[in-house]
Amino acid sequence: MTADLPEVRRVGGYVGAEICGLDLARDYPDATYAAIRRALAEHGVIFLRDQFLDEEQRERFALRFGPIRVKQQLRKEPDQTRNVGESWHVDMTCLDEPPMGTILFAEECPAYGGDTMFAGMVPAYAALSEGLKRTLLGMRAVHANVRKLGLSYEQTSPPEPSVAEYDAAEGPLHPVITRHPESGKPVLYVNPEYTTRFEGWTRRESLGLLRYLFDHGGKAEFVTRFSWQPGSIAFWDNRQVWHMAINDYHGMRRVMNRILLQGSPPVPAEPLTQPASA
Ligand code: SIN
Repeated sequence: MTADLPEVRRVGGYVGAEICGLDLARDYPDATYAAIRRALAEHGVIFLRDQFLDEEQRERFALRFGPIRVKQQLRKEPDQTRNVGESWHVDMTCLDEPPMGTILFAEECPAYGGDTMFAGMVPAYAALSEGLKRTLLGMRAVHANVRKLGLSYEQTSPPEPSVAEYDAAEGPLHPVITRHPESGKPVLYVNPEYTTRFEGWTRRESLGLLRYLFDHGGKAEFVTRFSWQPGSIAFWDNRQVWHMAINDYHGMRRVMNRILLQGSPPVPAEPLTQPASA
């Protein structure tokens, strides 16, 4: 580490890195935040430990990466059984401009459990066959909040919507393969929570291919898992990773402060230039 430049230690083969040697209660020169931004684009999600920040310090850190879109607390009490974000998803792709990134600050953690998993959609795209890449590159998909997800830790899950509800659900059309605005890399940009069907296809027609892509994206090699302690931070690039909060800490409290950063409309990746091979 040179003065004010953090050490970046990879924690997974494809996704995730720990940023070491910073005390975010301090303010750093622009070069420090530029290095963090580069690490985020390269590794998809970054982690910091032992950062005990108040609300003002959390906001000041977040604002170094762009305007704040939403600020909220995620609090699961010992008597609550549901969890927010307990299946693979990307935050709010049901919006025209999904958040660019999310920063989660741990305030109170269960004695065990309550980890968060992250899956990298740059390596997931790269591992697809050339033929499937070519097909997906020209496609768009509907992203809708058909399950009406919110920030509720209520006791019961909402019922699974019908196929007709999936077909009728409205939401923006996003490219199925996007181009990451900073790295330029192609990203598999569908997710199990919000992507309901392909443009011009019914839900039934879409399901086979969507299920394949959802299983593919969640493969163990694309995933890294983070165990929280008070003072831990995870900052994920919502343009290139899925995440999932594991709901295995019943009877214990978990309190997180979350900041979502303003994003922009996802842009499609360029088509492949080499001729197709058999
Ligand atoms: C989320 O989906 O943003 C929540 C993640 C978590 O609580 O670990």
